[in-house]
Amino acid sequence: MIRQNILSDEGVLQQFIDGVLAIKDPARFPWPGQPGLSIYDFFVAWHHQSMMLFTPPTQRDRNSAHSGPAFLPWHRYFLLRFEGYLRTALSDNDFRLPYWDWSADAALSNPRQSPIWSQEALGRFTQPAIWQVRIVPGTRGLTRLAQPRPLDRDLGALGGALPTRDAVRTVLRNQVVYDAPPYNSSSTGFRNYLEGWEGPARIHNNVHVWIGGDMADSTSPNDPIFYLHHCNVDRIWQAWRIRYPNAPYVPPQSASNNLAFHRIDDALYSVFREAAPVTPRSVLNPQALGAPFSAANHYDYDTLADLQG
Ligand code: CU
Ligand code: CU
Repeated sequence: MIRQNILSDEGVLQQFIDGVLAIKDPARFPWPGQPGLSIYDFFVAWHHQSMMLFTPPTQRDRNSAHSGPAFLPWHRYFLLRFEGYLRTALSDNDFRLPYWDWSADAALSNPRQSPIWSQEALGRFTQPAIWQVRIVPGTRGLTRLAQPRPLDRDLGALGGALPTRDAVRTVLRNQVVYDAPPYNSSSTGFRNYLEGWEGPARIHNNVHVWIGGDMADSTSPNDPIFYLHHCNVDRIWQAWRIRYPNAPYVPPQSASNNLAFHRIDDALYSVFREAAPVTPRSVLNPQALGAPFSAANHYDYDTLADLQG
């Protein structure tokens, strides 16, 4: 089953919107034990919690899902679980998450006018009657808003720029190892250049900054564009794996306990009780996912050709 470019297929765009609205609805997809909140909000909370879990707790850089090797497998896991809920909501076992190719928009004279932000597409989530933010970061952890508020976006206002195709290709070409000591935001290697702590284009991070508003926060999945952005990040990881098939995931399991949550057989940080722990190894190949995933979750991308060069 194929993850497609969201702008290449109106059907998949409509399915994404319908599915997201369904799982945001507490009446249809309730968050158990949290009246008024939904499964969609549960994912927002999971992402926030992942950032609050510093690994190890003696430093303030690497957390269980960012600024470390698990960045790519953890977000793949997050998307797989979200995608599963969309399939349920849509009653469509063949549905796969689409991606937003932001580097195509980087080539526009005004990326704010991309069709992705039109009212027919992701622009509609800025309508207060359609979408409300219910949980935000507070001074003491996650805060549930007594009064939900509209989604916040500031396209291009905070500065930053959408990464160009050339910048993405350069990272794919030049970064030949997955990650490197000290396995944090100062590392060399593909993961850190794609995550965007190193390198001039600040690839993944810059997309969050360019969109701004809720996307610039630990609760960034409040904006449904989060899923389309990370699907494209996941696609770039897949292109890199195919380009360097012999480059292993690192660190290995023999690495120090300081790298817990990031070693190849560590359980990725989760809020789900999984039948088997999801590890970096179990999600390395989207067409051969390990338990608890199965063929029902397998996916491929419509194209990786734009990323090679
Ligand atoms: Cu994240
Ligand atoms: Cu992100």
